[in-house]
Amino acid sequence: MTASRRTFAIISHPDAGKTTLTEKLLLQGGAIHLAGEVKARGQARRARSDWMKIEQQRGISVTSSVMTFERDGITFNLLDTPGHEDFSEDTYRTLTAVDSAIMVIDAAKGIEPQTRKLFEVCRLRSVPIITFVNKVDREGRACFDLLDEVADMLALDVCPMSWPVGMGGLFEGILDLGTGKVSRPEGGSREFLGKVDENAELPGEVAEEVELAQVGYPEFDIDAYRGGDLTPVYFGSALKNFGVVELIEAIANFAPPPRPQPTEAGPVEPDNKEVSGFIFKVQANMDPMHRDRIAFMRLVSGTFKRGMKLTPSGLGKPIAVHSPIMFFAQDREIADSAEPGDIIGIPNHGTLRVGDTLSEKNQIRFTGLPNFAPEILRRVALKDPTKTKQLRKALDDLSEEGVIQVFYPEIGAQWIVGVVGQLQLDVLISRLEAEYKVEAMLEAAPFDTARWIKGSDRALDEFAEFNKMNLAKDRDGDPVFMARSAWDVGYQRERNPDLTFSATKER
Ligand code: G4P
Repeated sequence: MTASRRTFAIISHPDAGKTTLTEKLLLQGGAIHLAGEVKARGQARRARSDWMKIEQQRGISVTSSVMTFERDGITFNLLDTPGHEDFSEDTYRTLTAVDSAIMVIDAAKGIEPQTRKLFEVCRLRSVPIITFVNKVDREGRACFDLLDEVADMLALDVCPMSWPVGMGGLFEGILDLGTGKVSRPEGGSREFLGKVDENAELPGEVAEEVELAQVGYPEFDIDAYRGGDLTPVYFGSALKNFGVVELIEAIANFAPPPRPQPTEAGPVEPDNKEVSGFIFKVQANMDPMHRDRIAFMRLVSGTFKRGMKLTPSGLGKPIAVHSPIMFFAQDREIADSAEPGDIIGIPNHGTLRVGDTLSEKNQIRFTGLPNFAPEILRRVALKDPTKTKQLRKALDDLSEEGVIQVFYPEIGAQWIVGVVGQLQLDVLISRLEAEYKVEAMLEAAPFDTARWIKGSDRALDEFAEFNKMNLAKDRDGDPVFMARSAWDVGYQRERNPDLTFSATKER
């Protein structure tokens, strides 16, 4: 069964066309019947929750979700990642749950900052990438330019799989470099509606380019692709439906089926009979009438059956999963069973946390789900000081969800929150008010960044003696060095060779 699963994400810079491509993929997969539904449904869903007004106002999508569709016997799980650069932490975690990714590039812009950042996360985990150069129905940069940019900036071999027959006003279709067939635009909208020329005559200039391209780049090599060393490149237009089917076929034919996942005791293979998975995202208040949370679990091994008892690593005692949710694009459904690679949503009241492993025997612990060192730190001040208890609860909850990180200083009573992007702070204030009735303000903190410290008890004690003012505990009670600057980190690292100062923490 696992051979028939493809779990992937789309990474891109905002505006490159991820939403449009998602719609078209779902449309091709038969999951939705009208393009535009992704956005429309998104808006309906967002309107349900107060804090999500932020996303509406800013016209961005903060929450990621899962879209499942089937085609030719293969189940595709598309994990949506928020495109806004402020929300990188959430996006990073989602990328821990996929086996491959599609990187969408705007043909006029090439590699943009967010594309590059996300690509680096994929590279950390050797997630293989298929590249889609979008918007060739518009004037764009020369194909060779774009290919060389991907190769140089990302240090990847590139292998063009298709080639645009002109761009912008001269756009006459997409040539499949494997078969020589050309998909043609039709009608007033100049969309792809299924018209394919078998033996198309190419304009002289294009024929020349194609000849050069075929000798100038390495041949497609599936092992190099799966190892993260080579990216096949498809040209197309999501808006006009060019290159979309080719992408689905590429994912089906080349993208890896569910991969083994690392634990300290070695990788867990998908065909391991014991059911196991990990939580990569928790979303609260999808329905404000119920204070519920959905924990998103990526199934790693075994066949999950509804009602099964699984033990979360953070809890120690098993929970029965009675209403697991599968996310088909049109609807949420209760899942009766799920296979490795599938994502199931587990409703809970705060027992499940990002980074938790769930397993039948409680002996597996997946590694590699990092917390990232916050780049912005703020002190939280209450408008009404009698609300301390509520605030603590709220900060604990929200840090469990991964909305913020919280640090409780060893000295002083003011708690500190850390985030990777500014937008997370707006979400924090808005949710504190809406969900916990806590009015809070954020003040400048005397720290610039934080590092998790590890070492022997003695080394830690010694360090604490001199640095009490800069010590805090995180939500799990682990020690954190609150630094005034990056320089400070370097200085302490040099002075304390027995301690490690880490910018990420694996849970
Ligand atoms: P994003 O999710 O990556 O942010 O991008 P999105 O799909 O929302 O696309 C950004 C803009 O680019 C949209 O236009 C969209 O219609 C356009 N676009 C996407 N794919 C193509 C393509 O293949 N060709 C052309 N020419 N345009 C494309 P917009 O005017 O900003 O938004 P909208 O009001 O049309 O939705």
